[in-house]
Amino acid sequence: MRSNRVHLNCGITMPVMGLGTYSSENDRETTELAIHKALKMGYRHFDTAKIYGSEPAVGNALIEAILHGRVEREDIFVTSKLWGSDHHDPVSALKQTLQNMGMEYVDMYLVHWPVKLKPWACYAVPKEEDFEVLEMESTWAAMEKCLDMGLCRCIGVSNFSSKKIEHLLNFASVPPAVNQVEMHPMWRQSKLQETCTNHRIHVSAYSPLGGPGNIWGSTAVVDNPIIQSIALKHKATPAQVALKWGLSKGSSVIVKSFNQNRMKENMGSFDLKLDDQDFNDIDRLEEWKIMRGEFLVNETTSPYRTIQELWDDEI
Ligand SMILES: NC(=O)c1ccc[n+]([C@@H]2O[C@H](COP(=O)([O-])OP(=O)(O)OC[C@H]3O[C@@H](n4cnc5c(N)ncnc54)[C@H](OP(=O)(O)O)[C@@H]3O)[C@@H](O)[C@H]2O)c1
Repeated sequence: MRSNRVHLNCGITMPVMGLGTYSSENDRETTELAIHKALKMGYRHFDTAKIYGSEPAVGNALIEAILHGRVEREDIFVTSKLWGSDHHDPVSALKQTLQNMGMEYVDMYLVHWPVKLKPWACYAVPKEEDFEVLEMESTWAAMEKCLDMGLCRCIGVSNFSSKKIEHLLNFASVPPAVNQVEMHPMWRQSKLQETCTNHRIHVSAYSPLGGPGNIWGSTAVVDNPIIQSIALKHKATPAQVALKWGLSKGSSVIVKSFNQNRMKENMGSFDLKLDDQDFNDIDRLEEWKIMRGEFLVNETTSPYRTIQELWDDEI
């Protein structure tokens, strides 16, 4: 069960339990240690991005493990992402990512957000003057070039609404394999799941616990009384309930923990069996999007004047 993988439309498989590596402390040593522990516990999918600053640590730890024969490159799955300031030249951006990681290819390269920024705006919260008009046709053509050049094995998107997925499919020669979005028991993404399933695009769930402890995150999911009572009923933990819910919906889950016990606990979600009553109870929870993307919205220079425009009313 632990090696569970999902088949993607690009013909490869991806482990459904991914380890997130965004950490506000961004401490290289802690990240590397976490990757080594995760490999020992059976994690095979690692999620990073240029903007997280974790590419060097993730790459270094994985390469070390490969060189010591603890894991084969073919058995691990590495995802990284194109930041808005790199839409001008995704091929060079991915080459930089590969250099950061010391790798010859990543398994998955995602367009991080449907937002294009000035080339120098390589920071998480863009300023008003940093936005440019998004030309998804040229960005996606360059993503396809990355694929042709063998710099990645698959391409996809992140934070795309149903409407943006449909728009992309109008001109994509290669459809996205994955749409990585916020998804957890309090943000269930049923419409997006339906759209993506219709187009054989896999939905991958980030912040599957609601990001407790993150600056933007919340404990609303793990502290929710219904989630807690389901956990109690099954002698599991709220985090395991949230993760197993995501996996049961056919999604992969990208969960971040650098704590050995919680990493193990999260892996343990595979062993939990949720019943129909649990799914019904979760379906009745109030929905609340935690990562709303306000930092990408303004009334003058962003293509999105409101968060409703950013998410095409799927909020
Ligand atoms: N594509 C995007 O735009 C995007 C956006 C956000 C995130 N992501 C990716 O998704 C990953 C995960 O998202 P996230 O970090 O926002 O949210 P998350 O995985 O839902 O939550 C992570 C937080 O929960 C804590 N935690 C982990 N396991 C726990 C458990 N069993 N019980 C209680 N707390 C637990 C972690 O702390 P400890 O480390 O101390 O355990 C950390 O503070 C990121 O690291 C990143 O790789 C992608």
